[in-house]
Amino acid sequence: MLIQEKIQELLNMRQKAKLGGGEQKIQTQHEKGKFTARERIEMLLDEGSFEEFDMFVSHRTHDFGLEKQRFLSDGVITGYGTIDGRLVYVFSQDFTVFGGSLSEMYAQKICKVMDKATKVGAPVIGINDSGGARIQEGVKSLGGYADIFQRNIMASGVVPQISAIFGPCAGGAVYSPALTDFTIMTRNTSYMFVTGPKVVKTVTGEVVTDEELGGAMIHGSKSGATHFVAEDEQEGILLVRKLLSYLPQNNLEDPPLSPCDDPIDRLEDVLNEIIPESANKPYDMKEVIHAITDYHEFMEVARHFAPNIITGFARMNGMPIGIVANQPNYLAGVLDINASRKAARFVRFCDAFNIPIVTLVDVPGFLPGTTQEYGGIILHGAKLLFAYGEATVPKVTVILRKAYGGAYDVMGSKHLRGDLNYAWPTAEIAVMGPRGAVEVLNQREIAAIEDADAKTKFINEKEEEYKRKFANPYVAARYGYIDDVIEPRNTRFRIIRALQSLATKKDVNPPKKHSNIPL
Ligand code: HXC
Repeated sequence: MLIQEKIQELLNMRQKAKLGGGEQKIQTQHEKGKFTARERIEMLLDEGSFEEFDMFVSHRTHDFGLEKQRFLSDGVITGYGTIDGRLVYVFSQDFTVFGGSLSEMYAQKICKVMDKATKVGAPVIGINDSGGARIQEGVKSLGGYADIFQRNIMASGVVPQISAIFGPCAGGAVYSPALTDFTIMTRNTSYMFVTGPKVVKTVTGEVVTDEELGGAMIHGSKSGATHFVAEDEQEGILLVRKLLSYLPQNNLEDPPLSPCDDPIDRLEDVLNEIIPESANKPYDMKEVIHAITDYHEFMEVARHFAPNIITGFARMNGMPIGIVANQPNYLAGVLDINASRKAARFVRFCDAFNIPIVTLVDVPGFLPGTTQEYGGIILHGAKLLFAYGEATVPKVTVILRKAYGGAYDVMGSKHLRGDLNYAWPTAEIAVMGPRGAVEVLNQREIAAIEDADAKTKFINEKEEEYKRKFANPYVAARYGYIDDVIEPRNTRFRIIRALQSLATKKDVNPPKKHSNIPL
């Protein structure tokens, strides 16, 4: 064969590989409102930056007539490229080939990019669109999944791992995304479940649709298994790119600094007015967040799950930070099981990847009741406590209003190695709210008063007395638990100064195999 012919053969094979399962299947994919695996990679990476591996891989199974059906690439596109000039490794499952189902060789391709990414210290992005284990391959496929899981586990805390779910993700296949740091799902075209509707009906008799069982909003709001719900794939891809802009390439690097023209001493007068006169009135913590961050930008993580706590990324003077904030606008910002789980996971992610944590506190305590106790609020609340106490990144906390009870301790307090702890003059730091405290401390006196008006008057007086004593930041400040009481409008400046002073912070945990966080 002449060299020209050999080159032509290569080009032909490439052309064939690029068609995946064929034009008909590509058309069906488009008709479902979905892009192909290659189109997704094109959209995700900087133009022309994709370098593909293993285009000529195909399966080596001889059962069920599979020997007659071979497709170059075998249902998954893998390689590396750049996003905003920074190296990333990718794999993108190709539904046009055997429904994107995972074979032994397909798994090996994914493992190869994960190994390379971990070795060089670059993020891994997986785009999922698959019917699960390739049924014809049996245990080889199951083994392939477990090989990927093992790599997800080893890469966890070493390089950021992001999963985009743009189609089905069923059975054990869900566990790879679940092991990664962030999951993005698209509305109406993606779903994740351990067992699909048919099996559910057979086993439990329950009748549900794909969407009801494992659609994007279900995982975004109920299970918490997805952190972002995108309207469509383009938005999903943009979210991946934006998310990476806040993250370092690996756990040995600092997050990337951006130039910042937003003045660090920008005063936000609105913050001096934001706390309502009545302690029981809510306000929107997101207004506070947007007021203090660079260019008022905030990328919220897990927006629909446990909205009583807010988590997300922002920049302060160009430095990426993670924000954890109670949301008085939803359930008064109470800490419940889901809020604890959500925030604990976020704090641990930030700590793993050297992202400072800014905590904004307005929390009436942990949510009481049998639902919470039976559901394990003790253990879940302990996760958040553990995450804060274990974190060694810079931790700056501002108490805006309520910091009651155990929730005071948990939310980045000085006692859990908070580095700089500030309070607004409106802060109320106490074991519990005034009403509850008076009812405990003065229960005998209250019971002894027969006249209803006199009883109310007595309770009000005692509450006032309690508030005077505890509903302020100065008792905590007297003991050094609060480093300074700051003017609300100056919060941006004070946090940035705090972060600057902590930029070279070093803190270590004692040597151990690993900790035993109360899972
Ligand atoms: C082999 C598969 C396949 C699979 C789909 N296909 N899933 N081939 N193994 N798991 C093939 C189909 O036969 C079909 O081939 C093509 O892909 C497209 O599938 P359709 O069914 O036509 O597409 P659609 O109607 O969109 O439905 C998609 C689907 C459905 C919902 C994903 O295909 C499905 O239910 N598949 C099985 C899902 C499943 O139960 N997987 C195993 C989960 S258990 P042709 O040639 O007709 O085009 C698991 C264990 C992992 O994954 C454990 C790890 C720990």
